[in-house]
Amino acid sequence: MGSIELKNGRYSRVFNQLEELMAKSDDQLARMATVAAILHHKMDGFFWTGFYFLRDKKLVVGPYQGPVACQELEYGKGVCWASVLRERTVVVENVHEFPGHIACDARSKSEIVVPVRQKNGEIIAVLDVDSAKYGNFDYTDAEWLGKITGLLALPPSS
Ligand code: SME
Repeated sequence: MGSIELKNGRYSRVFNQLEELMAKSDDQLARMATVAAILHHKMDGFFWTGFYFLRDKKLVVGPYQGPVACQELEYGKGVCWASVLRERTVVVENVHEFPGHIACDARSKSEIVVPVRQKNGEIIAVLDVDSAKYGNFDYTDAEWLGKITGLLALPPSS
């Protein structure tokens, strides 16, 4: 079996597990903590896995697993802000080549950032995953992590 099939199989099992776990609580913070913990411990090469909340012109750290991270990310700088401002998933094969990349931990080498949207489409946070390996993330990760962040969506009034 090729590495894409292995990754797809792993994500598929993780997705099913998360779907069951999400049904147990509609508290978004609890869901985010669960997503970060499951992804971090079940996926290969996930060195830092967590969320940043969008608060006015700040990105503020939320539930995460991995080494201690920056608490706030300066407006407009780095991969997380690029994802928010472009309103899409950003995959970075080599963080050292990304202008303005914010290195919370010098061991990070590649990164993926996926917007977290409420049901009305509003971006409320991002899911950020760093790897200590170059090129750890690709279209397969973008697709599955997009589906997984979709499990977090609540109606805007919740
Ligand atoms: N590298 C991110 C900052 C967050 S840490 O990776 C946990 C960025 O450039 O936005």
